[in-house]
Amino acid sequence: MRAPRPFEVRRFATLGSTNSYLLAEARHGAPEGLVAVADHQSAGRGRLGRRWEAPAGSSLLASVLLRPVLAPEQLHLCTAAVALSAVEACWVVAGVEPSVKWPNDLLVADAKLAGVLAEADLEGPGTYGAAPIVVGIGINVAWPASDHDLPDHLVGSTTSLQQQTGGPVDREALLEALLEGLGPRVGALGSAAGRAAQAADLRRQCTTLGAPVRVELATGSFEGTAVDVTDEGHLVVRTPAGLRTVVAGDVVHLHPAG
Ligand code: BTN
Repeated sequence: MRAPRPFEVRRFATLGSTNSYLLAEARHGAPEGLVAVADHQSAGRGRLGRRWEAPAGSSLLASVLLRPVLAPEQLHLCTAAVALSAVEACWVVAGVEPSVKWPNDLLVADAKLAGVLAEADLEGPGTYGAAPIVVGIGINVAWPASDHDLPDHLVGSTTSLQQQTGGPVDREALLEALLEGLGPRVGALGSAAGRAAQAADLRRQCTTLGAPVRVELATGSFEGTAVDVTDEGHLVVRTPAGLRTVVAGDVVHLHPAG
């Protein structure tokens, strides 16, 4: 197992996007373990080209630069490492245990608590295998404080730690707990046993497993039942035509699992 590198945390009142900042730093050769945290992002990015908006000071907005020695098909495990560390941090700091909706959302019941966005710069400097991967996470901490903060169409689909606990949650403590869990998880990515253990953790925490799903790909969509997560972190879906393994895509839960 590779020894986890200590994190260097850089804090900002406002940044365009913590992911964009680290991708730029990575192009200048920044090492693995650099972390960017912002109170507010003016151009926060979500998956599939969406924007990620959060009122200033209301969320944990953080990205970490990794340079894992992984095959391209194993890179999803970087997203999983951050998502699972965030699950543990929410539990330790706030007593809230989110589930993971494949590939990258943290949910409480069916409401989104956090999203993860991993961006690889495969053209960046460094030899193959040490290419930078930036994994960013936005965790709703103080917003929404209650359903009154949400437009009707978001009630039930968005939540925060404060809404779940009924009291304030310390963003700094959350970041500290997240990084404490992430160090060993990043170290574990370096061995087959570590990767298998991480995939097993993802299976345990993944609310998508057992759920009827619609998988939306760039090329179209299909429906089935999510039945497994592979050791690379890919989703296996049973369809009338047989098993299909999804490496990247958006998943809609057709109704809540179990
Ligand atoms: C999603 O669910 O679409 C993923 C959202 C990821 C948002 C985080 S906030 C910190 C980091 N910086 C960004 O610009 N995006 C990620």
